Formats: sequence, C-alpha cells, structure tokens
Amino acid sequence: PPLEMFVDELPIPPVLDVTTTPHVTLGAYKITQKLHRDLPSTTLYGFGTSQRAAQYPGPTVEARRGVPTSITWENYIEDNVHFLPLDNTLSVPRLQNGGVPIVVHLHGGEVPSYSDGNPDAWYTSRGESGKSFVTETYVYPNSQPAATLWYHDHTTGMNRLNLAAGLLGFYIIRSPEEDENLTLPSGPYEVPLVFQDKRFFPDGRIQLPSIGAVPSIHTAWCPDIFGDTMVVNGKVWPFLNVKARRYRFRMLNGNTERYLSLSISTSTGSALKFIQIGTDGGLLSEPLTLPEITLASAERADVIVDFSDLREGTELYLMNSARAPFPNGNRLPGNTRMLMKFIVVAKTKEDIEAPNTPVPATLSNHTANIRLRGDENVRTHILTDVYTSVSATVPVEFLVNNRNWRSQATEIVAQGSTEIWELINLSSEAHPMHIHLVNHRVLNLQRMDVRRYSNRSCSLNIPYPDPRSCFTELPQPPTSYMVGWKDTVTALPEMMTRIAIKFSTRDGSPFGFDATAPPGYLWHCHLLGHEDNEMMRPLLLT
Ligand code: C2O
Ligand code: CU
Repeated sequence: PPLEMFVDELPIPPVLDVTTTPHVTLGAYKITQKLHRDLPSTTLYGFGTSQRAAQYPGPTVEARRGVPTSITWENYIEDNVHFLPLDNTLSVPRLQNGGVPIVVHLHGGEVPSYSDGNPDAWYTSRGESGKSFVTETYVYPNSQPAATLWYHDHTTGMNRLNLAAGLLGFYIIRSPEEDENLTLPSGPYEVPLVFQDKRFFPDGRIQLPSIGAVPSIHTAWCPDIFGDTMVVNGKVWPFLNVKARRYRFRMLNGNTERYLSLSISTSTGSALKFIQIGTDGGLLSEPLTLPEITLASAERADVIVDFSDLREGTELYLMNSARAPFPNGNRLPGNTRMLMKFIVVAKTKEDIEAPNTPVPATLSNHTANIRLRGDENVRTHILTDVYTSVSATVPVEFLVNNRNWRSQATEIVAQGSTEIWELINLSSEAHPMHIHLVNHRVLNLQRMDVRRYSNRSCSLNIPYPDPRSCFTELPQPPTSYMVGWKDTVTALPEMMTRIAIKFSTRDGSPFGFDATAPPGYLWHCHLLGHEDNEMMRPLLLT
C-alpha cells in the first residue's frame, strides 16, 4: 500500500550563509535518512559541511549579490560502486579505482567555466578525475540579479543517479534592492520547496530500473523514469503548518523526468491562486496571478501564496496535474497528483507583529526585455529521439542536430552578442532545454507539421498560411510558464520554440570573468535520462 500522506512535517534545509564567510567547504557523503515515518531509513548521498551534517537535500546556500564566494566541493563517497544501477553503455566515467564520481553545477549561475561543473570535470574520492577537471574549489561571483538557483551533480552519463541519490540543494542569491524595496515574506514565511518523485522498496531503498528498456543496447537505462511517491524537501507527502498570512515559496522541480503542473486547492475543491513573482532568472517585472504553474525538471517558480483570509484549521493541498510524459503522455499523475498539505494554524504574537505586506505592483527593472535589432544570428536546432531496428518504439538515445555530447562543438558564440535559437521538437514529448551561463527570453512558439518537415516536403522559410510552409498555425505568444528570464525552456512537441539569448550579463555588460576560458559551457535537455544519454552539447564563447 502507498505510504500514508501528511504524517511528517516539511523539513526546511539548514541555511549556509556565505555572505560573511568568503570560502566554505561542502562535502558529498554517503548518508541514511528517514524519508517517511513508516519507511525504514533510506541510503542516500547528501551534501554537508561534515559527515554528520550531510543531508538530502543539501544545505541552502545563501549568497548576496555583489559578494563573491567560493566553495570547495569535496567528494567523501567511499562506495566502490554506486548504490543505484549504473549503465556502463552510456558516456559514464571509466574508472580504474572504482568510487563514485561527482561534479557540482550551480544551475542558473553566471560563473567561470572551470567553476561550472562540466560533466567531464568529475572526480572521485580515490584521486581520479575527468578530462575537464581543473579544481575542486569553485568561484561564484554572485554578480547576477537576485534569484533562486540550485546546485546539483552533473557527472557525465550518471547525473540522473546522483540526483536521485540526493546530491542537490538550493542556492539563493539575495540583493539589497530586493530586501529594501519589496518587503516580501521572509524568515519563517519564506520557504524553499524542492519536489522529487521517487519509488521505494519496502525496506526504504530507492528503486530505479535495473534492466534497460532495450537491454541489448542499454543494460539499465530507460528513457523516462517516473516515481510513484512525491518527496518534498526530503519527506514523503509532508505537511506544513502555515499562518493566515502571505508566504513566499521558492519552488523547484527536482524530478528526474516528471513535469509538474502545480495548483493549490482546499478539501472542498476551491482553489487558491499563486502570485508568481519570479522565475529561473530572478524577479519578474510585475507579479502574475496564476491558478496553475507548470515546471519542468530544473525550473523554478518564486511565488507568493496568500493564506490571509483562511480560518484556522483550513487544510489545503499542493497538487500536480501534469501527464507523463508531458504534455500528452498516457500516464496520469496517480499518487503524484498530491505533493503536500498546508494546515492553517493559530498565529503567535510574532506572527501578528510581522509585516504582511501586499505584493508590490512593480518587482524589478532588471527584467527589461531583450531588445532585438533584427540582424541577430539565428540557429536552428532539431531535437530528436533515435530508434533503431532493434527498438522501433523505445528510443535508444536523444540528440540535438544529430550530434551527441562528444561531437565537436558547433555552438560557438561571440561574447556580448544576442542570438535567436529556434528549437524544433520532432519527438512526441516536451524537452526542457537548459543553457548554462546565460538567461534567455521566449519569443514565441509555432506549431509545425513535423512529418512534412522530416520528409523535406515543406519549407521553414515560407510563412504560414502558404501550403508550402512547414508551419500549420501562426506563431503564438509564450505560455504563462515561459515568461521572464529563463535558463531552461520547454520545447513542446511538434512546435518550433523561438528564444532570444544574450551572451552577456542581463544589462549587457561583459561578464566579470573570462567566459572564453576552457573547459567551456554546455546546453542540454534537463530530463535527466535524456541528458545522460547524449542530449547534451558543448557551448563555447569566443
Ligand atoms: Cu541543472 Cu546542466 O544543469
Ligand atoms: Cu529531452
């Protein structure tokens, strides 16, 4: 039977304030942790300042805009082999001495590439490292706008395992502008939420497929892995006591593959809306009121939820309605329809005294849109699943422009330039494409006849409604979950998604570091099974 819901309180990961300590050390350790009252302890890998402090999710690093920091990421995982099923047919590290490689990426961070967690910059606790390894000490300039970032493992061919094992945490950049001008809910009223769908053995161990979908090609790899249990901040279906006031939730989809379409409703079915104030890249210019927010793996939504008018004892549920695979898959959310419960409880004196300011109408001006001049370099990228005669129905890998992670770099971009990338998704599921280092804006989406496009019987250069056009509709504006500054964009199936990318800081000034230095950056699908199976490409700046 499924585990009982709402028996454990939502944990809040401890905060590691790096604003006063310019250098900290975080290690990856093997740990065990109780993820549910009725589930035996689960073996995990977690980050912490020591073995005893290590946990899943890792501590929330809190940085301040303009205050650089550095973190030494140490690998203390002594296991000879990973406790989750590794697939050696993928591009995994080839180890002489065993061990579990790690390398940490600050997702959404504007950082020098040697600090970016390149998938080939992995290292083990036994002295081996990948070809792009430079150092275990990473520099984080924290010069970008305030935003909800997160850190996670990025080891080539196995980051789906290391993330399922627990190697992730929040990294929040705050700014004086945000703190002084906005009076957003803070302290106990500001709560980070990371969602991960998992599957457990009755003995508490994490269950991942150990036999591949096409085992003659990939021994353990499966294209899409969906759990049947929702874990929030390291507890299965937790509850959170809230007060009748506004809260700020920084929500992160940490799933291997599953999309989340989130909504909040009471037991009688009436809904509470989200006031979205931020996205991947930081604050929006104005708040957006939304009944539902869709997040792909790695995407973040910074929201205000107003419980002010609710009576003590009211119970509310954070729900998911996304099909798997997204958006047209045949799997309904099942048990993963439920994420967590909120219970409105009595206010204390401190709660009554704390400010409960409405969300300001203007949140930021750093979100000024990318101004296009019309002469931007345009790159068209084709996203495909690959089938073979052995498997006509289950893909055996995923590619961008028919190239894989090892193929020569083709995205070589001048610093300071703005480019338009067109993502053509020929597959039947959405691919959330993540670009390191930079943020982008979604321009528009346009439905295509992908069959005619694949048969080369139509043209991308002829606009709809000409029958010779590959497009079958006019371009449409981005969906509500594609607004603002993004580092990850959903390329919906059978669509062209057009994005504008600025290869500089948001205000157009150059990066405060040499972004052309090796080993360079990358971009990839953030469905972890796709990324681990070749849907990843180098990105180099010149
Ligand atoms: Cu969140 Cu390249 O990854
Ligand atoms: Cu994908």
